[in-house]
Amino acid sequence: MANWRIKSLDSILATAEKKSLTRSLGAFQLTMLGIGGIIGTGIFVLTAEAAQLAGPGMLISFVLSALVCGLAALCYAELAAMVPVSGSAYTYSYATFGEILAWIVGWALVLEYAVAASAVAVGWSGYIVGVLDNLVGIKLPAEFVNGPYAGGLINLPAVVIALAVTWLLVIGTKESAQVNAILVAVKITALAAFIALAVPAATAENFQPFLPLGATGAISAASIIFFAFVGFDAVSTAAEETKNPQRNIPIGLVGSLAICTCFYMLVGSGVIGSFGAQPVFGPGGEALQPGSPELTAQCNTIAANVLPVVCSKEALAHVLRSIGYPAIGNVLGLAAGFALPSVVLMMMFAQTRIFFVMSRDGLLPAALSKVHPKYKTPHIVTIVTGVGVAFAAAFFPVGQLAAVSNGGTLCAFFFVSLAIMTLRRTNPDRRRVFRTPAVWVVAPAAAAGCLLLFAFLSLTAQLVFFGWAGLGLVFYFIYGRSRSHVGRGLDEVNELNADIPPQGVPPLPGIPTPGGKQA
Ligand code: ALA
Repeated sequence: MANWRIKSLDSILATAEKKSLTRSLGAFQLTMLGIGGIIGTGIFVLTAEAAQLAGPGMLISFVLSALVCGLAALCYAELAAMVPVSGSAYTYSYATFGEILAWIVGWALVLEYAVAASAVAVGWSGYIVGVLDNLVGIKLPAEFVNGPYAGGLINLPAVVIALAVTWLLVIGTKESAQVNAILVAVKITALAAFIALAVPAATAENFQPFLPLGATGAISAASIIFFAFVGFDAVSTAAEETKNPQRNIPIGLVGSLAICTCFYMLVGSGVIGSFGAQPVFGPGGEALQPGSPELTAQCNTIAANVLPVVCSKEALAHVLRSIGYPAIGNVLGLAAGFALPSVVLMMMFAQTRIFFVMSRDGLLPAALSKVHPKYKTPHIVTIVTGVGVAFAAAFFPVGQLAAVSNGGTLCAFFFVSLAIMTLRRTNPDRRRVFRTPAVWVVAPAAAAGCLLLFAFLSLTAQLVFFGWAGLGLVFYFIYGRSRSHVGRGLDEVNELNADIPPQGVPPLPGIPTPGGKQA
């Protein structure tokens, strides 16, 4: 009879302790890391999609998704401080629920990180195309800046940025804390400038009707705009590089989320109040899905100088241009063009780490983790990830990609919320420097919030999630189950593989060498 193959917490922690990784990140850098991962396509682009679903009621959507993320962040914080190792939700699930669920969570994290990277690449493309047009006067041909969903052939700028980031990762680029701090400053300045110009121009009429598509529209919008908050969990993947993780990880997680929520609420109010954020309806007055060919067709019937925000691919720049600040709108577009690639980089980097940890556990082929002889980076897994990211970015709309990514993220958050409760029961005496407050309220509420948002994702996103999970299970039973290190009883705490530590990825013990011998 197969057992659940639970990996013991002691073994996981012993593995982490064996590593000689420098612990250099403090609370401030972690908060910056969190903000760097959080602010991106979500607020810069998906605000338009949220408006199409909820109108001004998207403010409720921001609150709802921030609430779910906040509750999940509190659960993450306890686990990340207690088990400060790479692998995030995957590792916690391995220690709590065993291998199969851990595999499903790790597999779902591929959706979270890789598909999010595609979404951000598409968001970047929208801004860069707008900046080229409005600032430089270069109009790129529509067929090459749109996927088939919007009447085009391929989103070439999105492909270019995805492949460029892949190349940077292959040659060993790692965003330093300083570069991250500069990019965070750029993003915050851009959003602050938007708030300063848009909020004072707000009128009460623009908030009416507040919920043109009812409460369900607001919850659907929350399930999309949730994407704008994702990224804070990347803080937990830096646990092994953090000074005093027990104190600093919770500060980084909750702090970055709180700061971003304040900004998002103000930006959302600015968009609605200054310019209006009512949905565009079809010829028969029917609601239209964001990213759909029908919405594109309807938007094409509207003159460019009165284009509603829901038709724009560069929502915030479009609003500034429309309310009388074209130059600042263009500068904001440039800021987004400058800063968004770092979110792509962070997401793809996080993806390669998750693959690494899964490969360390024997669940993915060790060949994937081969290290480049010159650059010392996991070039194969990076290139595989990069090609997948570029492909998705080439042909799918940003909202659909964000929804699919959210499906994976919600799955991970859901299991993290269950894991914290389970570990309180199974490991009650383990030292917890940070204890989630009111855990028996917070964790169930986080789990329920994840289920609610998942239920309101588009049917396509839900089907992709279940299809992906099914594919993952097939792969697990064909490949991973028989090769799993836990299943084979291999000792976790081995000598380090001297080959491995690429660009900050911790040395990974237990990866079989090419000769088939355990490292
Ligand atoms: N939260 C990140 C973004 O909005 C993923 O781009």
